[in-house]
Amino acid sequence: MIPIANPILGDEEIEEVVKVLKSGFIAQGPKVAEFERMFADYVGTKHAVATSNGTTALHIALLAAGIGPGDEVITTPFSFIATANSILYVGAKPIFADIDPKTYNIDPQEIQESVTHRTKTIIPVHLYGQPACMDAISEIARDHDLKVIEDAAQAHGALYKNKKVGSFGDMACFSFYPTKNITTGEGGIITTDNDEMAQIARTLRAHGEKERYEHVVLGYNFRMTDIAASIGIIQLKKLEEFNRKRIENAEYLTEHIGDIDGIEPPFVQENVKHVFHQYTIRVGDDKRVKYIKFLNNEGIGTGIHYPKPIYKQKLYEDLGYRAFCPETEKAAAEVLSIPVHPALRVEDLKEIVQTLEDASGTII
Ligand SMILES: Cc1ncc(COP(=O)(O)O)c(C=O)c1O
Repeated sequence: MIPIANPILGDEEIEEVVKVLKSGFIAQGPKVAEFERMFADYVGTKHAVATSNGTTALHIALLAAGIGPGDEVITTPFSFIATANSILYVGAKPIFADIDPKTYNIDPQEIQESVTHRTKTIIPVHLYGQPACMDAISEIARDHDLKVIEDAAQAHGALYKNKKVGSFGDMACFSFYPTKNITTGEGGIITTDNDEMAQIARTLRAHGEKERYEHVVLGYNFRMTDIAASIGIIQLKKLEEFNRKRIENAEYLTEHIGDIDGIEPPFVQENVKHVFHQYTIRVGDDKRVKYIKFLNNEGIGTGIHYPKPIYKQKLYEDLGYRAFCPETEKAAAEVLSIPVHPALRVEDLKEIVQTLEDASGTII
């Protein structure tokens, strides 16, 4: 079986975890602080605040941005549900703007049309590892005095005009879930240049504690452990190499499947470094089930990212959402992710290409 994701954890990660276990300091401690420093330096921001996962990072980033009941936050309906749920956690209202059908990222024109007097923040997602259009998004934010929180959960190391994602918004949130470009098991981090927001996020992740047993606001236990951070420190050193391999794999796939009838390979914008968290093709919606069956029967893992616009999830329908974003609906019916992770070998890539060729010849 060639899995759709395969985290690469080596002896170094194991050794670091063992050291932490032997140190007796296994909850949030010096390793978290070291990981935060390294991550902030890597992204090029003043601060990084580590959290228990990417969802909790988004949750406290929104609180640190001052978002709450009565506020609207514009985001994409074509993402993992955590993006929109974080807006609900703080009592604000997600407003869904449609995507660009080529990149699958939020369309700035659609954002522009969704702005109201209640809009406070935009959360663009750098979907599949491809940066959203940060120039246009930043301009809309400037014009309407909005905050921007990047959801960079899938885009560690991606560049937009030679600048790292995670350094554009007021804040940005990353995830270190095992399928991501680097992992800490579970984990997340907020990056920001804003001293005040960083301070609020630090307080909120630890029960609103300013000093020992002095709790000034309603906070949470959203801390990362030193065990997770010690894995992250090693993984971060490997990120550039992991991404290089992902990009090389993606280029191979596009070169070899680009001409197969009925398959549309991913589109990469100019001026970005797409880090291929996912390699997502489009096939006709009537054919997708057949492709999945064919590939899975041949031992090739697949994924659908994502099968439904978020507003069509029961939770959102129950909340009264009746949105209709045509490009998102179409993409949700047609996209199919195939393996691109750095553990793939040349034989695996050849097998994926051959199987897709065979599939397209069989599926009419
Ligand atoms: C776009 C996006 N946002 C947020 C998250 C949430 O991250 P986590 O699973 O670490 O909570 C994920 C990851 O699963 C994601 O892909």
